[in-house]
Amino acid sequence: MEIDLSRIRKDYNKNGLKESNTPDDPLQLFQQWLYEAIEGKVNEPTAVLAGTVSPEGKPATRTVLLKDLHDGHFIFYTNYHSRKGKHLEENPNVSLSFVWHELERQVHIEGTAVKVSPEESDAYFKTRPYKSRVGARISPQSQPIASRMQLIRAFIKEAAHWVGKEVERPEHWGGYAVTPTRIEFWQGRPNRLHDRILYTLQPDGNWSKTRIAP
Ligand SMILES: Cc1cc2nc3c(=O)[nH]c(=O)nc-3n(C[C@H](O)[C@H](O)[C@H](O)COP(=O)(O)O)c2cc1C
Repeated sequence: MEIDLSRIRKDYNKNGLKESNTPDDPLQLFQQWLYEAIEGKVNEPTAVLAGTVSPEGKPATRTVLLKDLHDGHFIFYTNYHSRKGKHLEENPNVSLSFVWHELERQVHIEGTAVKVSPEESDAYFKTRPYKSRVGARISPQSQPIASRMQLIRAFIKEAAHWVGKEVERPEHWGGYAVTPTRIEFWQGRPNRLHDRILYTLQPDGNWSKTRIAP
């Protein structure tokens, strides 16, 4: 089957982004856009493409879920021994890209990631469903496994072990807090003349704001 991809075309005209309407603090604008994505029933509004860099300098991306936003940090949870965990161990530089197609918006964030405290990871781990907690204990994320059956067997064995007990967070699983240094807001506009407002963190801790070309 041949599909002519060049004919797939859409004009963006839902909204606009004016410098004069944007706050000095990009976190404030991010919160507003996230809220609008959630209220607007966007599919997976907290899904974000997280980019890391391998020790060889090669980029890699995967989707994670934003689970918290506090004190200017973006928090996501994962397996610290995963591929992304190994990348972050060597190189804390990270990118986070939210794409909210229904709103014709994207936000690109760049910054550095550090592990959140064990207490913060524990607190979030406790909120996860029982089976997700068991799964986090047994899945050697990003490692080769012999078969799906091997995974299911390990899951059943582990689930039986924790019946009637509080499933403990394994040390290899927890959160990363991303401190942003660059945040770009993109709003699709007609004729590909999109609005892009870029915030850059200055050495004095304030954000500078500028419009960049689409
Ligand atoms: C919608 C969606 C949400 C996901 N959320 C997470 C998440 O919060 N944490 C996580 O470790 N993996 C999550 N994943 C799986 C990752 O994309 C990825 O497969 C996994 O983390 C292993 O990545 P790595 O081998 O690059 O470390 C999610 C995948 C999708 C499609």
